[in-house]
Amino acid sequence: MRGTLTPSGENSFYDPLSRRDFERLGRLIEDYCGIRMPPSKHTMVEGRLRRRVKALNLANLSEYCRYVLDQGALEQELVNLIDAVTTNKTDFFREPQHFRFLMTEGIQSLMALPHRPGIDRPMRFWSAACASGAEPYTLSMVLHEVQRANRGFRFEIFATDICTEVLTKAKMAIYPEFMASPVPTDIARRYFLRSQDRETPTLRLMPRVRQSVRFGHLNLMDPDYGLPTDMDVIFCRNILIYFEKQIQCAVLAKLCRHLRPGGYLLVGHSETISGFDLPIEQIDTAIFRRR
Ligand SMILES: C[S@@+](CC[C@H](N)C(=O)[O-])C[C@H]1O[C@@H](n2cnc3c(N)ncnc32)[C@H](O)[C@@H]1O
Repeated sequence: MRGTLTPSGENSFYDPLSRRDFERLGRLIEDYCGIRMPPSKHTMVEGRLRRRVKALNLANLSEYCRYVLDQGALEQELVNLIDAVTTNKTDFFREPQHFRFLMTEGIQSLMALPHRPGIDRPMRFWSAACASGAEPYTLSMVLHEVQRANRGFRFEIFATDICTEVLTKAKMAIYPEFMASPVPTDIARRYFLRSQDRETPTLRLMPRVRQSVRFGHLNLMDPDYGLPTDMDVIFCRNILIYFEKQIQCAVLAKLCRHLRPGGYLLVGHSETISGFDLPIEQIDTAIFRRR
């Protein structure tokens, strides 16, 4: 292998991903998980796949693409490929208006429905692109708070993602200490355990917060989700933005099938879902109710 100049002109080894290979991988990724792969993602994909080249002990990115696309290794490499191209950014209490809505109004209105979710049966929540778990665990902490005030309140949380790497992290429920900064102090005190390690301080969610969440692998592009169809609240936040309109609509239609009438669908605040023919009505910014 020969070293060449980087685009910035530095004299170090540069292993480019050709446009053709990027387009072939992009089509495959888009078909499998719906994530758009415009040319602007070329550099990001190139950087992330270099780690796979190294892990597989291959010579360069061209060899990786041949291996995956032409030599039949796709099936075994797909999980790693998807892990490498997904954006898993998340935070505790991200877009806190949603949690405020649930605490002040959402949960009470659900409990008042004829089938009395939360009382006659557990209220069901689903975090449909949960990344490393901050979203479903925030929900779990919030719902434990509701339970403190309403002893009989019952709930369950399903949390799914396509990326196996983040699901492993989510199940561990260990986070760097700085990630807890958006968590109100009294809630953090009640639900986080602090590590003894002073050099790399971490926090772990208490067992009761962890045990309320069931994690699973799920691709929102799948025709059938294999989950209960009577969810009371679905979080589908900061993922639609990566999909084309047509895929957004198809995914939202499937999510609606899993939502009980009167239940809530919460999307990211930067995600616009107007103009689709869906059985939901908007009741506030990024908050929809199933008709
Ligand atoms: C930016 S994170 C958002 C996490 C969380 N919902 C939040 O708002 O903090 C997007 C997540 O969607 C997941 N994802 C991407 N494509 C997916 C698909 N087709 N099915 C399920 N999850 C997907 C990614 O792996 C990633 O963890």
